[in-house]
Amino acid sequence: MPAMRISPDDPLLLRIVDDLAEHGWSQQPLFLSDNLTRELALECRKRAAEGELAPAAVGRGPAQEVREGIRGDHIQWLEPGQAEPCDLYMELMDSLRQALNRGLFMGLEDFESHFALYPPGAFYRRHVDRFRDDDKRMVSAVIYLNDAWQPDHGGQLRMFFKDGTEYDVQPDGGCLVVFLSGDMPHEVLPATRERLSLTGWFRRRGNEPFEL
Ligand code: OGA
Ligand code: MN
Repeated sequence: MPAMRISPDDPLLLRIVDDLAEHGWSQQPLFLSDNLTRELALECRKRAAEGELAPAAVGRGPAQEVREGIRGDHIQWLEPGQAEPCDLYMELMDSLRQALNRGLFMGLEDFESHFALYPPGAFYRRHVDRFRDDDKRMVSAVIYLNDAWQPDHGGQLRMFFKDGTEYDVQPDGGCLVVFLSGDMPHEVLPATRERLSLTGWFRRRGNEPFEL
């Protein structure tokens, strides 16, 4: 697979930074190459077949629980060094992290991400990604891994803007959606077929009190 490094000064990343500053979100339909998208989809399906994806929970800490009436996807958190396509994805996201820090002084220190597989009929009700008791998540980034998605398959990401308007993103393979985690409510509509994605969050350092 060809290396897919991208400089933090790449015009594509600068456009995302500008969009985020101006509108609070950005959609880039052809962010990932077809090749990398395919490799990541294969990796996600392989892990699912090996039973490595688990029902996603909602909430944080002791309050965390699986509630399929709120979200029905199955996930696995990514770790570096497990698979080449995943490492390439993490490198791309690190370049985006640097671009965001340079352009917007966001102080983003790390990136956490997981594969997500929505079985047919699964959904994720309207929510905001930043936790009420933990504001480290600054920017959300979703990349879709679906081949030949059709509008009548459903599965749109519905974004709710402050002015009361809505926008639906089709989960087309290679498409990246980025938005501010704290103030962009969104939901995932049910689909008639399996829906794959990589979802991640750029985080800043927490401001919890200093502990010995
Ligand atoms: C999430 C989420 C959106 C999507 O995982 O928090 O909102 O389109 N995902 O998969
Ligand atoms: Mn979300």
